[in-house]
Amino acid sequence: MLTPIPLEEFDASCGDINEVVSLPPATFTSQEFYDFEMDAVFGHEWLCIGRATDIPNKGDYFSVDALGEQLLVVRQADGSVRVQSNVCRHRAMKLVQGSGNARRFKCDYHSWVYGLDGELQSAPDLNDNPCFVKSSVKLPEIRSEIWENFVFITFDPDIPPLADRLSNLSSYLTNWGLSDLKSSSPLTYFPVNCNWKIFGDECYHCAHLHSKSWCPMYDTASERIDYDSLANEPEKGIIAYDLMSLDKDLSPTRTGKNLQPVLPNLTDDQRRRLVYVTVAPNLLLIAMPDKVKYFTWLPTGPTTSVFAATWLYPDSTLAKPSFEEEWKMEVEDLKEVMVEDVYAWESVQKGMFSRNAPRGRYAPSEIVLVRLNEWLINKYRTADAKARGVEVVGAAEPAGV
Ligand code: FES
Repeated sequence: MLTPIPLEEFDASCGDINEVVSLPPATFTSQEFYDFEMDAVFGHEWLCIGRATDIPNKGDYFSVDALGEQLLVVRQADGSVRVQSNVCRHRAMKLVQGSGNARRFKCDYHSWVYGLDGELQSAPDLNDNPCFVKSSVKLPEIRSEIWENFVFITFDPDIPPLADRLSNLSSYLTNWGLSDLKSSSPLTYFPVNCNWKIFGDECYHCAHLHSKSWCPMYDTASERIDYDSLANEPEKGIIAYDLMSLDKDLSPTRTGKNLQPVLPNLTDDQRRRLVYVTVAPNLLLIAMPDKVKYFTWLPTGPTTSVFAATWLYPDSTLAKPSFEEEWKMEVEDLKEVMVEDVYAWESVQKGMFSRNAPRGRYAPSEIVLVRLNEWLINKYRTADAKARGVEVVGAAEPAGV
């Protein structure tokens, strides 16, 4: 697809952070640009849709709607995870709602039955019909990959494997044992009235929007933020920064400390950090001394999205008798922070419709947004050039602080 916003308009968002401005407001409001972006970015990238650890046993499943596709993620008899269409092959009814465990999936409409692997097992009144070849009917599989037990999908059969892109990040996070961590609660999406790009993570706002909620729990003085985290690979859409504290084992809780045991393999230096990593376009990891929290989101329209967050812990922590009570306490401590974020995101979205909507300058601590913008703009340029049948020119270099 061709971009409906001339590519030259993005030039002002690429380069030195002391000079660049934010993306054109229409990138947050226009249906035409949204359609272009869904193809240019989401149509050709890996997207996180949840945790494989949420479906540990044969027949465990969860459903998720991503980019207008209804998907069903199922643990197979051989232990693998299959992502398949959640649309019945008969008349397109949604096959499964929510999550659970099943031996097979039966469509509510006319009771067609599918195995865990998506093969049609039964179709009433058609099973013995010689004109109907049951074995030829199967729920289509969506290309997927498991990274550190996160389930990723792509609608592009040709992009390189995800593991290549995230291999350095795996090394960086080795001591958190990410693969073995389990969710404290199921991933539950809630709707937010804003374009997905507005979720872009930065800590410029922490000391201001969250001055009464986050700040009393965790010091976010700008001199204690490391924007050159080695996890950074902006050209791959991996954008990271660390919040650093003077003391070990601090967390944004009512006590200012971790409420759960420290992960056993962390170094002293790692115990002084909260590691924030965006894996564009739709995953944010926050690695803390006692857990990893993750946020994920999916666009549902130019001005609407769904957003979800959950917390990952080792089995030993989840098994503590006091875990549930302490975890609820921590969720409660951060509730106001989330309310403030949603308030800001939705307000920004409204502002983007103003005839006076700005292309604002960035503060140094918003370098993460400049890096994300440049990754996106390269995707826009690539898609537009492909649609024109020409080579990409002027790809942006990743921004430095
Ligand atoms: Fe599913 Fe008819 S639509 S059985």
